Amino acid sequence: MVMEFRNRNIISIQDFTRKEIDHVLKTSQVMEPVAKIGSSMLRGKILATLFFEPSTRTRLSFEAAMQKLGGSTIGFSDAETSSAKKGENFVDTIRTVENYADVIALRHRLEGAASVAAEYSRVPIINSGTGAQEHPTQALIDLYTIQKERGQIDNLKIAVIGDLRYGRTVHSLVKALMQYNVELFLVSPEILRMQGSLLREVKSKISVTEIQSLDEVMSEIDVLYVTRIQQERFPDPGEYVKLKGTYRVDLKSVKTAKKDLIILHPLPRIDEIAPEIDQTPYARYFQQVGNGLFVRMAILSLVLGATK
Ligand code: CP
Repeated sequence: MVMEFRNRNIISIQDFTRKEIDHVLKTSQVMEPVAKIGSSMLRGKILATLFFEPSTRTRLSFEAAMQKLGGSTIGFSDAETSSAKKGENFVDTIRTVENYADVIALRHRLEGAASVAAEYSRVPIINSGTGAQEHPTQALIDLYTIQKERGQIDNLKIAVIGDLRYGRTVHSLVKALMQYNVELFLVSPEILRMQGSLLREVKSKISVTEIQSLDEVMSEIDVLYVTRIQQERFPDPGEYVKLKGTYRVDLKSVKTAKKDLIILHPLPRIDEIAPEIDQTPYARYFQQVGNGLFVRMAILSLVLGATK
């Protein structure tokens, strides 16, 4: 199968074959030195960042990536400042912005918003987080970081702890990991367990064990992926209050860890990783943030046809 990235929408990580994921990761590596010196490969191209939900890393790294490649950016980081506030519908916003931009990075609280945008847009849509559903470019960053830090993704034991119900980064990551030979441990409070259909799908492809306490696997895992509780997705705020602080990775938690364990987190972090972990050799979440720039440079250059 010929790989074609040009003009392609990125809606779900499941739109990618393993070969395509590997190609994005290779292109991200190529982008590392390019990020240092800059490039003009996307000169004249415009990225629109339409963020209907808050963001620090995704929006800023997309904008930085575009500028590193010689392109420019437009957009909004708060829909309250856009004509959505006046009642403009979502599709009309997309049909407007497609006239100004060559690619659109979209974040929205509604699952399915990226697919709807792709239906109406003449320019590619990059899903930059939709509700609790998916965040495919974050999964690519996570995979790139694992590969870079551990030299491989296959044959690793990976524990994912936190909000496996509402966490979109986890959903995209486990979907991506279905394409690799990994052993997965899912650690969460009962109410935040991964939901039925996704769990069944992942279990049908790779080894998955659900556990209640990280202690059960700490001594054998190679990667620990931590996520925050997604407060904003809880229908009942009282439920969040009950769950707040129910898990936390601190120095005591990593006492039995392998020497080469790496700890990742898509960020933002609230209280689920103690700051004392930042000083340990396990902490790689800020390297992961840095990798976001290279991966998003790769994605933009591929989707805009500057790289094959
Ligand atoms: N990881 C991530 O999506 O971070 P932001 O919400 O800050 O973009």
